[in-house]
Amino acid sequence: MSQPATSNTTSASASPYGTLPPTSTPAQRKPISLPRLAEMHQRGEKITMLTAYDATFAAVADAAGVECLLVGDSLGMVCQGLHNTVGVSLETMRYHTESVVRGLQRTQATAWVIADLPFGSYHEGREQALRSAAVLMQAGAHMVKLEGGGWTSEIVQFLVDRGIPVCAHLGLTPQTVHALGGYRVQGKSDAAASTLRQHAHALQDAGATMVVLEMVPAPLAAELTKALTHCATIGIGAGKDTAGQVLVLHDMLGINLGKMPRFVRNFMDSASSVRGAMEAYVHAVKEGSFPDNSQHAW
Ligand code: KIV
Repeated sequence: MSQPATSNTTSASASPYGTLPPTSTPAQRKPISLPRLAEMHQRGEKITMLTAYDATFAAVADAAGVECLLVGDSLGMVCQGLHNTVGVSLETMRYHTESVVRGLQRTQATAWVIADLPFGSYHEGREQALRSAAVLMQAGAHMVKLEGGGWTSEIVQFLVDRGIPVCAHLGLTPQTVHALGGYRVQGKSDAAASTLRQHAHALQDAGATMVVLEMVPAPLAAELTKALTHCATIGIGAGKDTAGQVLVLHDMLGINLGKMPRFVRNFMDSASSVRGAMEAYVHAVKEGSFPDNSQHAW
């Protein structure tokens, strides 16, 4: 007599929506941790980061060797179709963080997961920031990221003192796009560069172990990278001399339907698969051929 079909069959047959393997394979690499990232920083090995918003792309990026996955609030634009990141809610960030983490757990993947604290979720002060960060950490993030300098230092210290690793974000901070008047290079004048330096040092002193530098002149980013010995600079439009690089996934896969920012390279151009494009990105960042200051920086 034939066996009745069960809904949770574990056979190796193809599954229609199965972009993740049905059973997990043994872990291939040691998980990325804060001490491992600090070692890479000290050794001068470039840190690679891409944004990820769902389970499958997270698993593929990990398999391609991307060390850090940023559940960026850029998901408001690339997943939700918003015009900017201001409308992204904490609940949406929690949903996408859980999806990314589930994808990594299903494949026993090892990436370090950073989740963005969205606009309005830390602006009231440190207690609100702690409550919001707890939501993202309980969704499985290893670190939270918040934008801005000056007023954020005391929030960073409050979170770090409570065991929450923090990545800061300076230069072009998309959550303040209306105040900045658009997506423009930051830190160009002497005064702006000096403020950026002060903010970066204050954030390092507060305990931030990473800082994203977005659309900052390459010489300033290089100077900050040398000066910040305990906080790894992660550049996006900040030249090649930062401790690591980050790109928005959809940009580096060439599926930005708007105008491609100058600092992006389309890694799908010379790849035959998404994983291949991600591997090419990792390789180019590690060997220092991306970004190219003559094309991708200011
Ligand atoms: O939200 C995001 O994707 C980011 C990156 C642009 C760094 O913050």
